[in-house]
This record gives sequence, structure tokens and C-alpha cells, in this order.
Amino acid sequence: VPMAAQTALLALRDDGGLENGQRVLVNGASGGVGTFAVQLARAFGGKVTGVCSPANLDLVRSLGAEEVVDYTKEDVLGLGRRFDLVVDIAGSHPGRAYRRLIRPKGRHVQVGGRGSRWLQPMGRMFGTMAAAPFLPHQVAITNGPWKETRRNLITLGGLIDAGELRPVIDRAYMFGEIPAAVRYQEEGHARGKVVVTVAES
Ligand SMILES: NC(=O)c1ccc[n+]([C@@H]2O[C@H](COP(=O)([O-])OP(=O)(O)OC[C@H]3O[C@@H](n4cnc5c(N)ncnc54)[C@H](OP(=O)(O)O)[C@@H]3O)[C@@H](O)[C@H]2O)c1
Repeated sequence: VPMAAQTALLALRDDGGLENGQRVLVNGASGGVGTFAVQLARAFGGKVTGVCSPANLDLVRSLGAEEVVDYTKEDVLGLGRRFDLVVDIAGSHPGRAYRRLIRPKGRHVQVGGRGSRWLQPMGRMFGTMAAAPFLPHQVAITNGPWKETRRNLITLGGLIDAGELRPVIDRAYMFGEIPAAVRYQEEGHARGKVVVTVAES
């Protein structure tokens, strides 16, 4: 919650300025950040379209997405309609490519991207910001260090207590299995979060 859910919160609320009734596209909706982003967008009154692989379509729908897009069958750039906000967690396309998906007064928030050898996901983020002055919509990246963490965690805790937000846990590994846990996470297809635990429950 402190890392992934707070990232999703900042992307939607602070950088994305999501308002009740707006249409939001979450690219990378079934992973650690995405599963929180879909639920938070829904809790803030957004109409959510989630992008993920076929195995996770039902999960993303169950988290509150009105519409799900299987990226193995459909190119999200060809959806043919526009969103108020695109939150790109997977970083599967260059930032400028989202122009055709975003209303002129809409926003694009870059949260992550495929890891390159030297820059990791920051390469995608730098590229997105470099294109920003030439685009009609607003562009932001969500990145630490974060401010007002305590206030954000109280907000997230309240949503969890109210049943509007739940962590999705894919697998749990024992402490000694951390290398396997990291390898699995780095494959980039976890369903929600990967947990490391210190004792058998
Ligand atoms: N900016 C920040 O503060 C911050 C904080 C945390 C994380 N991040 C970054 O955010 C990114 C994601 O983190 P995460 O923890 O959510 O990763 P994750 O758990 O590995 O999730 C990645 C997601 O991307 C989806 N995906 C893979 N290929 C895709 C494609 N071509 N189109 C659409 N979706 C695709 C996967 O869905 P399927 O499994 O269904 O394929 C999966 O849901 C990373 O780059 C990470 O570094 C940034």
C-alpha cells in the first residue's frame, strides 16, 4: 500500500486531477500499481477502461473497470475515442502516441515503463516529458520523493476500511525465496502484488 497504492493515488488525484464522471484509461491495469489505480479511479467517480492481458481481464473488471482491453488482441491506440486522463503504468507506447486518445484539455500521466539497461523506467519518463511541449494536452510524470505521505496513507487506510480499496495479492514467498520473488516480479506480469513473508501463517 505505501508504495504502489500511493503511486496510484498521486497519479490519479494530484498529477491527473481526476474528477467525478471523467473517463480514465489505465494502461497496465492488472499489476501492482494498476490494481490500485483501477479501484481508486472508480472510488473517485471515474469511468475506467483497463488494459491488460487476457488472463487478467476478469480481475480488472472485478476491480471496477467498466471496460477492459486485451492488449494482445487490440492496440489501445486504435480504440477510436478519447479520454480525460490516460495513466500509463506499463509504458508500452511512447508518450506522444497517446495524443490520439486524449481530449485536448485532458492529461497524460506517466507512471512507469519498460526497464532499459541503464535508465530503467526513467527512459520512458524522460521521453514523455521531452515530447510534452509539442502536445495539446497536459503531461506529467508521477515520481518520488513524495510529500504528505502521512496524509496520503490516512486517505488510503480510510478507503480500505470502507471496503473501496483492497490489495490484490498474487503470490507469497518466504524470506529465503526473495531471489525467486524478485525474478517473478521482474517478468512484469504479476497479478497485483508479490508478498515476502517471514513466517508460515
Ligand atoms: N513512478 C513511481 O513512483 C512508481 C512507483 C511504483 C512503480 N513504478 C513503475 O511502474 C511500472 C509498473 O510497476 P508495477 O509494480 O505495477 O509492475 P507490475 O506489477 O509488473 O505490473 C505491470 C503491468 O503491466 C502490464 N503490461 C505488460 N505489458 C503490457 C502492455 N504491452 N500493455 C499494457 N499492459 C501491459 C501487465 O499486465 P499483464 O500481466 O496482464 O500482461 C502488468 O499488469 C514499473 O515501471 C515501475 O518501475 C513507478
